[in-house]
Amino acid sequence: MRTSLILLACVGFAQSLVRVPLSHLPSVRSRLRAANQLDEFLREHQPDFFSRRYAHCYPAAQHYLHMGGRSKERLFNFMDAQFFGQISLGKPEQNFTVVFDTGSTDLWVPSSYCVSQACAMHNKFKAFESSTYAHDGRVFGIHYGSGHLLGVMAREELKVGSVTVQNQVFGEAVYEPGFAFVLAQFDGVLGLGFPQLAEELGSPVFDSMIAQGVLDEPIFSFYLRKTSTLISTVCPHIYYRINGSGFGGELLFGGMDETRFVSPINWIPVTQKGYWQIRLDAVKVQGALSFCYRSTKGCQAIVDTGTSLIGGPARDVLLLQQFIGATPTAVGEYLIDCVRISSLPVVSFLINNVEYPLTGEQYIRRSMAMTMS
Ligand SMILES: *[C@@H]1O[C@H](CO)[C@@H](O)[C@H](O)[C@H]1NC(C)=O
Ligand SMILES: *[C@@H]1O[C@H](CO)[C@@H](O)[C@H](O)[C@H]1NC(C)=O
Repeated sequence: MRTSLILLACVGFAQSLVRVPLSHLPSVRSRLRAANQLDEFLREHQPDFFSRRYAHCYPAAQHYLHMGGRSKERLFNFMDAQFFGQISLGKPEQNFTVVFDTGSTDLWVPSSYCVSQACAMHNKFKAFESSTYAHDGRVFGIHYGSGHLLGVMAREELKVGSVTVQNQVFGEAVYEPGFAFVLAQFDGVLGLGFPQLAEELGSPVFDSMIAQGVLDEPIFSFYLRKTSTLISTVCPHIYYRINGSGFGGELLFGGMDETRFVSPINWIPVTQKGYWQIRLDAVKVQGALSFCYRSTKGCQAIVDTGTSLIGGPARDVLLLQQFIGATPTAVGEYLIDCVRISSLPVVSFLINNVEYPLTGEQYIRRSMAMTMS
């Protein structure tokens, strides 16, 4: 009798890890490149041109309404996002594919009332079909490189992996700017940054999980896996997986999986809460060149799962690219001949006294005919 009581108690407390499988898919940037449209897209951001050109790739019977404000900016958040997972909102469940993004804090999905072209391509949240929906009424706007995403706030029951979060504040986007969202593989974004970074008022998803006691430990961890995909050059939103199971990795809530990494874990203090911001002591290029070291403060960097690129100050990036012999393009990318990859110098990131070396194979992204660094 006594034994069974103890067992029951153990079962009650032994929550397991919450696993969210991630898919690894080509980024918007790589799909535009495959279709030979990237330069043009970055040079002249013209949604009309692209929607005409790819009209045959998308479902018929959509009427697009343009709500003005074509952005002149050249950078688009999430253009390089490659890892996506599924969540659901409401009762009965409505599924959405989202970027789990440490570089932002808000949760948003397209609204059924959204009239943007991007929304026509994606799953839309239907508030009127959910019994757990709570209207909020406040409006929100999130600034992206391509313009302002606008919407209204609401509260819903959110399911992520095996956990349910009650009364989660989220945004229903009614306007999604720019063509980058049209080609995106994801419906929305689930931000994992700190509350300080939030555009929406209310508790971010991870904070809600902690507050509602649904996690073993206040930890989330990413396992991102490299897989290969080939993109159709005719319709850049169609892609083929070259091989592999389609499993692109995993996001774990509540802890970490020891089988997914080589110990020890090097913990790095967050220097400022908002982004997952850390101090980068130096970037070294095979002993010949280094960045950041001049300042005793080092560089401040963020760990961002919403992109698949490493970014830095334009001047330093230019020096580094020149050093490895990469050729700049008109739109801010750098190309290098694939045959040179094996002879490229190692680039090391020094963080909290631990050096993380990257070889040419690791920091160069192979592309159809050319290669980007
Ligand atoms: C949502 O996703 C789950 C898990 O993949 C699936 O079982 C369910 O049928 C989906 N629901 C809808 C409405 O598509
Ligand atoms: C398929 O995967 C294996 C191992 O995961 C890898 O070695 C091989 O190069 C891949 N093949 C292609 C065509 O990507």
